[in-house]
Amino acid sequence: MARKLHRGQKLVLASHNKGKLREIEALLRPHGVEVVSAGDLGLPEPEEDAPDFAGNARIKAVAAATASGLPALSDDSGFCVAALNGAPGVHSARWAGPSKDFAKAMALVNEKIGDNPDRRAWFIAALCLAWPDGHTETFLGRIDGTLVWPPRGDNGFGYDPMFVPAGSQQTFGEIDPDQKHAISHRARAFAQVLVSCFG
Ligand code: IMP
Repeated sequence: MARKLHRGQKLVLASHNKGKLREIEALLRPHGVEVVSAGDLGLPEPEEDAPDFAGNARIKAVAAATASGLPALSDDSGFCVAALNGAPGVHSARWAGPSKDFAKAMALVNEKIGDNPDRRAWFIAALCLAWPDGHTETFLGRIDGTLVWPPRGDNGFGYDPMFVPAGSQQTFGEIDPDQKHAISHRARAFAQVLVSCFG
């Protein structure tokens, strides 16, 4: 049974990423939800060792809800390539190395694909809402598209410059950011959170 969030509700965002905090705060503000970050509360970052996005999202949300005594929302996302059996997937951030070099990560994807004609790729986002009593709800969003090489555009982040969403000619690195935020994997997962919690 889906649980509801109410106006004035305090919610922990189980992320230490300032960009995600800003984005999710803006999405929840119209619903009167007060967002605090796991970082602001000094909560530790749990190890994300699940084999899939939903599992990692659950680890983060449950850890934050248990430690804070408040409902918590987490986000786990990544880039999947058909010719690489879904890699880099949950290892998307790790492929960029400690220096977070995504030019290097994209070159690695391109090198591993070689001349494989299968250019299908997709982004996945898993959002998990967890309550202090252990109840969880998980929402998945996905956007499909194709790979291009060389990368194009300076907007966005991560693997955006090598991904053209289905129906577009431009990469996520070239598209206007508002347009990306309207159709992205995260937006699609978040739309389900809103329907479930406030609908
Ligand atoms: P995390 O969920 O913050 O661990 O993000 C995992 C990684 O997935 C990021 O570091 C990016 O490499 C990649 N990723 C997730 N969402 C996007 C996106 O919208 N564009 C480009 N890369 C993304």
